[in-house]
Amino acid sequence: MSTRTDLLKLLSENTGVYLSGQKIGEELQVSRNAVWKAMQQLKNEGYHIESKPSTGYRLRSKSNIITEDAIAGSLRFPCDIHILDTVSSTNNVAKEISLTDKPALIIANKQTGGRGRLGRSFASPAGTGLYMTIALHPDFDLDKALYVTMAAAVAVCRAIDSIVGVKAKIKWVNDVFYQNKKICGILTEAQTNFENGKIDRLVIGIGVNCFPGSFPEELENIAGCLSRTKNSFFRGDLAAEIYNQLLDILTKDLSAKTFLREYRTRCFILGKNIIVHPNLSEKGIRAKAIDIDENGGLVVEYLEGRKNRQMETLTTGEVSIKIQ
Ligand code: BTN
Repeated sequence: MSTRTDLLKLLSENTGVYLSGQKIGEELQVSRNAVWKAMQQLKNEGYHIESKPSTGYRLRSKSNIITEDAIAGSLRFPCDIHILDTVSSTNNVAKEISLTDKPALIIANKQTGGRGRLGRSFASPAGTGLYMTIALHPDFDLDKALYVTMAAAVAVCRAIDSIVGVKAKIKWVNDVFYQNKKICGILTEAQTNFENGKIDRLVIGIGVNCFPGSFPEELENIAGCLSRTKNSFFRGDLAAEIYNQLLDILTKDLSAKTFLREYRTRCFILGKNIIVHPNLSEKGIRAKAIDIDENGGLVVEYLEGRKNRQMETLTTGEVSIKIQ
């Protein structure tokens, strides 16, 4: 490990406590000059390090800069971590990198071409949102991909419970809401092998609006953020916990589909009137959301039009729904 990494570990273990330059040098077995240099490096990366003459240095609080060191210790499953500053889209990076037998976790500080479902864009400014993609070689078939998206929505909610301490809900199929506003979107993409019908690579992109400023003002009515207080939680902790929760479901639970039960209880549109836009058509049809079936489809009962009073199960595809 480098002096910088050792120093970060030492300061983190003593967060809030002043340590003298001499003591740090002794602990890390490096010169005071090397300590000073590594300290400057961490300050430049955005860590809140305070120095007091003839007392020493301390890490004031966990800074909201995501670094490999800051999240590696919190991951409960093996992972290749890629922390990047500015990328077009973490999903694009995830499709291009070479994958080992471990899943890869790609996190960027900022995206210049963040992508959403149905060809939409996803605003991704620096410092306020979390932009992450998990890429892996799955051992299941293409028809399970819908579950993966749903599993990711459950994983995001569980992670928000545990790191932010608030209850998030799901709007079928993969939007996460808090206080009636969308705070997270998920874009799952697959590279398939047509010969054996298996997925070669699954790319699960997750974007979370953490703090104010993570989405454009014109979306104020529909988009929200997890906390109005900037840096009230550490985005790296949220990323690590989302990874842990998703891997937990994918490795144990996906075939049993028990996570679907939790999905249903978190899905706040069930029992409500919604507007279904099949094939993204302008004109929506009023319907009631009845249930989520065993395959993850949304069962609706139409309330008007040609299919009035008929039930239909919607699969993700080109359907968009609005809450009435
Ligand atoms: C949606 O709401 O339609 C899905 C949004 C998904 C955004 C995330 S941010 C990380 C990853 N990279 C992207 O370009 N998109 C996903």
